Amino acid sequence: MSQEDNVRDRSAAPSFVASYLSNEWGDVLLPQGHALFGSHFNHDALAEDRVSRERIDVLHSLYRPGAFYREAAEQIGRWCDKADLRPQRVIDIGGSTGRLVHELRRDLTRDGASPKFLMVEPSQIFCDWAYSLLCAEFGRRRCVPPLNIAHTHEWWVPLPYLPSQPHFEAVDPVAVRQRIGPPGGISICCAAAENAPVPDGHYDLAVSLNVIDRHLAPKTLVGEVAKLVRPGGLMVIGTPFDFREQFTLDTASWPRKLEDLLPAGWNVVGGTELAYHLRLHQWDYTTFVCRVVCATAP
Ligand SMILES: C[S@@+](CC[C@H](N)C(=O)[O-])C[C@H]1O[C@@H](n2cnc3c(N)ncnc32)[C@H](O)[C@@H]1O
Repeated sequence: MSQEDNVRDRSAAPSFVASYLSNEWGDVLLPQGHALFGSHFNHDALAEDRVSRERIDVLHSLYRPGAFYREAAEQIGRWCDKADLRPQRVIDIGGSTGRLVHELRRDLTRDGASPKFLMVEPSQIFCDWAYSLLCAEFGRRRCVPPLNIAHTHEWWVPLPYLPSQPHFEAVDPVAVRQRIGPPGGISICCAAAENAPVPDGHYDLAVSLNVIDRHLAPKTLVGEVAKLVRPGGLMVIGTPFDFREQFTLDTASWPRKLEDLLPAGWNVVGGTELAYHLRLHQWDYTTFVCRVVCATAP
C-alpha cells in the first residue's frame, strides 16, 4: 500500500474526519457554549462537590479548538521576523483541513504583503473540507465519499461524540465563511509530499507539523520538505514524537530529537513546544506536546 493509500483509507472514516475537523475548526464552525466544548456530566449531581466540579471544568477548559494553530502561526511569524524574512511563497506539507494555512495567512499577510500559500495534503476528504472552508466562492462542497452529499445551503459537520460513531450537525456555510473571511491567496494540492508537483527551491517558508510521526521514513519526509526551500529560506518542522510501528515500521528511524532529521548545512534558528489537545470522542482527550524547530536553508 502506498503512503497515499494508507492516508486515504484512514482519513475516510467519518470518526477520523470528525476528530480532525472539530480540533482544527470547532471554534469557527460551532457557536460559543456548544456542547462539544463543555462537560457532558450532569453538574447538578455534583452540586455539593466543588472540587470535582472544578476538576471537570479545568479538564474541559484545556480543549480549545484552533488554539494550537493560532499559537504555531504566531511563533512562525516571530521566527520570520527574527530571520528578517517576509515570506512571499509559503507551503504547508500535510496541512489536514487547512487551519494552519489559514492562521499563517492571517499572520503573514501584513505591511502590504500578500503572500501565496500552498497546502499539500494526501487525504481527499481533508482537502475537500479545506477547499470548502478556505477557497470555494460560496460554501460549495464537492460530493465525496463516504457521505456522497453535496450541500450548498448547509453543511453536515461530523462531530466526535461516541467512539467510531460521529454525530452530524448542520452548519450554515455562509456564516462560517463570514467568520473565516474571503478566499484568496491559498491553493490546495491533494498529494503526498513525495509526489506533489511543486518546484524545488521555490519557497521562502515550508512548514510541516505533526506529519513526521505519521510517515514511513521521517528523515526522507524532512528531506522532501527541505528541498522545497530556497537558499536562506526557513523550514519549520514539528512532532509530538508519537512514533508507532503502524506508521513508521523501522524503529531505528525514529529520531531522538528533531535536529537529527535536518539535512547537512541547515542552521537551527529557534525551537519551542506547543500543547495540542486532541479530542477523539466525547470521553477521550489526549494532550500532546508538539516539539517544533525552525531552521534556515544553506
Ligand atoms: C497528525 S495529522 C497533522 C495535520 C496537521 N499538520 C496538524 O498539525 O494538525 C498528519 C497529516 O499528515 C498527512 N500525511 C500523511 N502522510 C503524508 C505525506 N506523505 N505527505 C504529506 N502529508 C501526509 C495526513 O493525511 C494528515 O493530514
